[in-house]
Amino acid sequence: MPDCNNIVRAMFFISLFGYARVLENGLVRTPPMGWMSWGYYMCGADCEQNPDKCLDEKLILSVADTFYNEGYQEAGFEYIIIDDCWSEHHRDRDGRLVPDSLRFPNGMKYISDYIHSRNLKFGMYTNVADVTCMRYQGSKGHFKVDADTFAQWGVDYIKVDGCFVGEQYLNNAYIHFGGYLNKTNRPMVYSCSWPYYIEFIHNKKPDYPTISKHCNLWRNYHDVVTSWSAVKNIIQHYEDEYSGLEKYHGPGHWNDPDMLIFGTDSLTEAQSKIHISVYAMLSAPLLLSCDMTRVKGYEKNLLLNLDLMAIARDPLGIMARPYRIDYITLWVKPRMPRKGDIYPSYSLALVNVSGQKRTITVRPSNYGLNCTDGYSVMDIFSKRFLKNITFEDSIDVTVPSEDVILYTLFPL
Ligand code: GLA
Repeated sequence: MPDCNNIVRAMFFISLFGYARVLENGLVRTPPMGWMSWGYYMCGADCEQNPDKCLDEKLILSVADTFYNEGYQEAGFEYIIIDDCWSEHHRDRDGRLVPDSLRFPNGMKYISDYIHSRNLKFGMYTNVADVTCMRYQGSKGHFKVDADTFAQWGVDYIKVDGCFVGEQYLNNAYIHFGGYLNKTNRPMVYSCSWPYYIEFIHNKKPDYPTISKHCNLWRNYHDVVTSWSAVKNIIQHYEDEYSGLEKYHGPGHWNDPDMLIFGTDSLTEAQSKIHISVYAMLSAPLLLSCDMTRVKGYEKNLLLNLDLMAIARDPLGIMARPYRIDYITLWVKPRMPRKGDIYPSYSLALVNVSGQKRTITVRPSNYGLNCTDGYSVMDIFSKRFLKNITFEDSIDVTVPSEDVILYTLFPL
């Protein structure tokens, strides 16, 4: 009994402490969910040659329609974010960014109004250098006017990249750009690529206490590409770096492992389950990047599985802790106690990326689940309650090769 109360008390302090440190914009108390163009459409500027990968107004409005009409919005997907390559190569006479006139003929305010009329949110992209990573107009020397322009366009989320600049400049620029965003008085989620460039381009240690004070989320590893090995590397990175990353992660301030590659024909069904389960367990942002008409039935079932999305959007926002057991990684995530409960629930993901099926025995009490009269075990993919266990019981789990078993345990 005293153990349980201590856990709940500790969680309360974690969330209070987290609250005191976050940006004052009050946004993304749960990790952002939505769609971002880069992973699949990339630069998408040559619409004549490559109409299937055209980044234009029609595409963005169609994503808003799909979110609105097909249940994604109810599952929590809300941000629709235009990445690099949206602008002309020159600014206007007043120094403002100008959307590409062929692909975005009605401008960005039009898109933003459309997205808002569907009760969704609008995101855009810039870089702290004088050009973006794909050498479109960047924001160096224009922080104030660009922050004001994004605010006037009704932007709700801004991804700010960090190509082509030095370490000192990065450390100052992100703080200054964030200051101009705050001064607009329009709350905008501030997504920074700052630690990625510090660590992987400049080979220095990112100053996470400062980064997490100024940014709502931050990229800290390489770009995802549409392959299983890219996803596996990202997951492995988060497993290896868990202890350095988890302390900065929580409501309003998130580590960002990059986009989901659903809808791109890159993963088997079981690999897709691993991809989304680990991201949900990490409380990572869930940003799709694909042609939404190509999302497969099984992918859509995962994205619209509300028990799975409840893991991703748990209000405590804790990054699951990995434990390596033989060939399996067991991820353990404490969850907000259900209404009326004093004990937390837990989600457990057993991930097997090896070439053979594996069986392990898990004793939940070894991982902090040591409260009360036991737990009711729910299988998240079949949406069925499996059984009740006492806190001293063990569960034998067989995980097929390259697959995952995902449970939530509710206190009885
Ligand atoms: C960088 C970022 C990507 C994307 C591209 C755009 O590589 O990490 O996510 O924004 O730039 O050029």
